[in-house]
Amino acid sequence: MTEWARPDTGCAWGDAEMERRTRAGTDGAGNGGAGADVLAANLAKWSTLPSGGPDQARVEDLLALSDADFAEFWRAGSAKWTAERGWEYERFGARFAGLRVLEIGSGLGHDGLALAPRVRNWTFCDILAQNLTLVRRAARLLGVRNVSFQQLHDPLAHDFRGTFGAFWAHGVLHHLPFALARREMANIDRFLAVGAVAGVLMYPRERWEAAGRPPFGEFGARTDGPGTPWAEWYDEDKILALFGPAWALRDTVHWGSADSRFVTFELVKERETPDEQPGDGAEYAGECAGGGSCCETGGSCCETGASCCGSGGSRCGGSGKAGPGGGA
Ligand SMILES: C[S@@+](CC[C@H](N)C(=O)[O-])C[C@H]1O[C@@H](n2cnc3c(N)ncnc32)[C@H](O)[C@@H]1O
Repeated sequence: MTEWARPDTGCAWGDAEMERRTRAGTDGAGNGGAGADVLAANLAKWSTLPSGGPDQARVEDLLALSDADFAEFWRAGSAKWTAERGWEYERFGARFAGLRVLEIGSGLGHDGLALAPRVRNWTFCDILAQNLTLVRRAARLLGVRNVSFQQLHDPLAHDFRGTFGAFWAHGVLHHLPFALARREMANIDRFLAVGAVAGVLMYPRERWEAAGRPPFGEFGARTDGPGTPWAEWYDEDKILALFGPAWALRDTVHWGSADSRFVTFELVKERETPDEQPGDGAEYAGECAGGGSCCETGGSCCETGASCCGSGGSRCGGSGKAGPGGGA
């Protein structure tokens, strides 16, 4: 989760492909178009993974290491991870004690392997088989046996084959346009029991604002490096909108540099999820770059300094006018 230099763009997009991708990624329905492109681009991107500190590691290089070198790499990363996330391991180790835990986007697997000794079973899920191969290797190395693995070929509709008492997703769902993340979460929710506790790490809204409110396509490259197709901010309202009406927010912890680098939300599933279609998240679909204001799905950006667009996307309040770019 490295900080990257920001290209200097305003509401207008500097890159035609990114414009196409971003427009379709916020189509509200999340179907096809660049929503699908973002899913595909995530597959390409996450064959490199954050390996502690500012480094990105190529999974294929890690898999080629000898057992001894792999063990050394993994232990060094684990020490850095624990230094950063140790407070989460304490808190959620207690919350998850004895439970079956479902994790999506497990990456290098440090969180799950740190917490596995406290839980009944930890299920690592990822879109990339090679990432799971790597975690399997680390689990073998550590002698951790109460773990299982599932590859998400279709993250929006995967059958997790069971019911889980806890859920973990760190640095994952913010890499999708909200409408798609909502669909992925609604599917996952079907496999989470009433009473389930969730620990979810996202980028806080404050971090995105401090970065100059870039389009989400651009924000991804700044937070996680080149090739990252997307990163969105989350706040309390938005995480509740992501999880849906059955869930309550228990706690919100801002942490990292200046307390604004990451936000960890702790949620609990209070009741059965009502049998209703998730909203399309249109209210979270658009934020303009460069201090410009938000727009409806598919609407155009307002000029810097304008206030929010109204429903329909083309009206800008304040002194703003419709600008040239698409909603981020
Ligand atoms: C930024 S890494 C985070 C890894 C780890 N959770 C951490 O905190 O370091 C994102 C991980 O999520 C996986 N991923 C990306 N998109 C996903 C999706 N839609 N559903 C599930 N996993 C996804 C990637 O393959 C990658 O392993």
